[in-house]
This record gives sequence, structure tokens and C-alpha cells, in this order.
Amino acid sequence: MSTTREVTVPDVGDFKNIPVIEILVKPGDVVKVDDPLMTLESDKATMEVPAPFAGTVKELMVAIGAKVSEGTLIAIVEEIDEATPVVTVEKVIAEPPLLSPATSQVLSAPAPVPTPAPPPEIHLPAHASPSLRRFARELGVDIDRVIGTGPKGRIQREDVLVHVKQHMRHDTEAGGGTGLDLLPWPQIDFAKFGDVERMPLSRLRKISGPNLARNWVMIPHVTNFDEADVTDLETFRLTVNKENADAGIKVTMLAFLIKAAVSTLNAFPEFNSSLEGEELVLKRYYHMGFAADTPNGLVVPVIRDADKKGVLEIASEMAALARGARDGKLKATDMQGGCFSISSLGGIGGTGFTPIVNAPEVAILGVAKAEMKPLWNGTEFHPRLVLPLSLSWDHRVVDGAAAGRFLHHLVGLLGDFRRILL
Ligand code: COA
Repeated sequence: MSTTREVTVPDVGDFKNIPVIEILVKPGDVVKVDDPLMTLESDKATMEVPAPFAGTVKELMVAIGAKVSEGTLIAIVEEIDEATPVVTVEKVIAEPPLLSPATSQVLSAPAPVPTPAPPPEIHLPAHASPSLRRFARELGVDIDRVIGTGPKGRIQREDVLVHVKQHMRHDTEAGGGTGLDLLPWPQIDFAKFGDVERMPLSRLRKISGPNLARNWVMIPHVTNFDEADVTDLETFRLTVNKENADAGIKVTMLAFLIKAAVSTLNAFPEFNSSLEGEELVLKRYYHMGFAADTPNGLVVPVIRDADKKGVLEIASEMAALARGARDGKLKATDMQGGCFSISSLGGIGGTGFTPIVNAPEVAILGVAKAEMKPLWNGTEFHPRLVLPLSLSWDHRVVDGAAAGRFLHHLVGLLGDFRRILL
């Protein structure tokens, strides 16, 4: 005897509209009670929906990406009568269900099958906890390919790491050369050494961290340094600010730097490009990113078409974008499409730093604090305002000579801004 029954999302506490991130069965699969059917992932937790009874999956009522809450119909399952022998999934989920136990029904062990018919094609869900599935997903590992060494073939954290290492070694041995084969991250109980406090990373840091790490690892960075004599430019900037005081416009050195960088990109187009396979995508537009420090971390808003804008317009747009960044009000489009980035720590201090290229851009300018310094003019030292600059670049796209020329050109423009007209 078999009955067709509906499977709904059981009690999931206060969570609502939780995305389905993984479907672990397909129509025709035979499941036992508590076998995982699908995985849901909220901001705070990953949960599996277990089969509340044994049977054959007839129809799936949701797809990956669907949002579900308690009571949402997720599957139709033809329940198998307890007296009927069941061809079961080999890897048995031994854990208690992660959702409300009240939703699970207990099924007595099936009677042995004396002469088994050829088994139907069945899906073998990996035997792993939701947190481990999440860990594997973060590493880009297909959990179904990992060999579990725990009790009843249960997959452990070490199994996932061994799987990753084997693949990396294989890539390296095969001549791929892409495996880093890094040591595992040190696991230290810091509390053994003194008082500690744990603080979760902000959402922004969780997003920017992996991007920075990828760029640092994947891009062969080199950084060049130079200094610009900005004495005359600073005098001009102060004059402009005095003239525009009533309009409430304040021009900082960064607005001039953006304009000068646009002009330099125009002279050295390979710096306004992105690397795609064996091709350079050269851009004919000039969208300039600038790093803005916010209480939650770093963001890089983009000033579009900076070549078509004057310094005053760039300054006021930059002030509005920086305000938006600090208030967390930037739109995704405010941070997209950048060609080149400038990271200025000039308002804070320091003599120089090596910024990380903001992929898929190929270079980034770092700006430190301008200081008065004695410069030799051929006959005597005289006091000049000197701005330290650093240029990090992707050595797959440009080389040291080009980077040296790029920076030299920029320094020349900042030393005499009239050159921008040439
Ligand atoms: N040398 C000396 N002084 C400088 C300077 C420089 N290179 N750049 C700016 N200043 C001065 C400004 O003139 C201003 O002085 P004032 O108040 O006397 O007029 C002061 O420093 C503050 O400038 P700021 O408000 O920071 O303006 P800005 O246009 O230079 O920078 C932002 C705007 C948004 C970029 C900046 O506020 C910011 O967030 N910087 C941090 C970027 C960052 O985190 N980079 C690192 C990424 S890893």
C-alpha cells in the first residue's frame, strides 16, 4: 500500500522566507525517514529539511533560490507502507533532524529483502552536517565528491581539506601550477594567553576581505614610488577654495589627483584596461574610483566620465559620494565600472604605502601626506610641498618601465597643472 503525501517546511523557529540553497533529491529517489531533502540558509543558520517519512519522491514543488517558510509545500512523496521492503539510501543520516523533532516520524527498520530486485537508480546524499556543507561550499567543493572517513562514512572537516589538497596537488603535478598547497590556518586558543573579546566582522569586511585576498594572491603586484612638488598646485587650490567659499565648494588635493590621473591614463592607455585571458580590454571611458574610509570598512565609489568633468564638479561629486559611503547609502551602481582607483591617506598621514590593485583594474595610485621638504634647485635648497605617491600595478599587463613613465608623467602634471592642457 502506498499513499501520496505532501511534505511541507516544518517548524523553523522565527525564520521566514528562507532561501533554498541546495536540493538533495530528485523525483524517483527513494528516501528514508530523516534523509535530508533540501538545505535552507538564512543569514544566521543553515538547516536541512529531513524527510518526515520514508517513500519515493514524486515531485519537487520548489527550486533552488525559492524562499520558504514554515508550512510551504516543498515536495510530494509517495509514502511507502511500513510492511513494504524499502530500497534505501546507502549513506544513512545518523544525526537527529536539525529542524523540529516533532516533525519527524519514526519508522521501524525495514524487513530484510530475501532476493533483491535490481535497485532503482538512487541518489546518495553525502553524509555531512549543514555547517560542513557550508564550509565545503565556501571552498567551492562539491560535497558529494568528498570521501567521508567518519563513522558510517560521515564527512569530517579534515576530509574536505584533504579533498582540496589532493586537487591542488593534482593541478600542480599536472602542470596547471595553480595549487597553492598552503598550510592550514593556525588554530590557536588565544584565551590561554590572556583575556580576549570576539567581534563579528562587518558585512562590508566580509565582502571586501575575500576580494582583497584574491587580488593579492592572483595579481603579481609591483609598487613604484615617486614624489610630486605640489607647492604651486596647493597655492592654486587654496585660491580656488577662497573664491568658492560662498558656494560651499571645497576642493581637496584628491580632486586634482583624479583629473591628473585621467590625463595620465589617456597618455598610457594600457593602464586603463582589464586583462581577460590573453586579451587586454582597453577602455575608452574614464570612470575613477577612490577609496573611502567608513566606520564599517573600505568602499570604492566611482566618479563616472571624470574626463568630461572639471575639478570643481569632481570635488563636489566626490564629497557627496564620500558622505553616501559613510552613511551606508551608496547604490551598487555608485561602485561599479571603475577603470582606475586612487587610495588617499593624505588627510591621515604616513609617508607611503603599497595599495592592492582593485581587480579587474590593472593599477592603483596610493597618496600619502604632503610635507614641506628642502628641495635642491641646482644652486640652493628651498622649501617645497612634496606629495608622496605610490603606484601598484599588475605585472601581467604592464612592466616597470611603463609604470615609471606613468608615475613620472603624473608627477609632471601635479608639478605644473597647466601641462594638463597640452
Ligand atoms: N597631504 C596633506 N594633506 C592632505 C592630503 C595630502 N595628500 N590630502 C588631503 N589632505 C588634507 C585636506 O586638505 C584636508 O585638510 P583641511 O581640512 O585642512 O582642508 C584634510 O586633509 C582632510 O581631507 P579629507 O576630508 O580626507 O579629503 P580628501 O579629499 O583628501 O579625502 C576621502 C576624501 C573620502 C578619500 C577620505 O576622507 C578618505 O576616506 N580617506 C581614506 C581612504 C583610505 O582608507 N584609503 C586606504 C585604503 S587601504
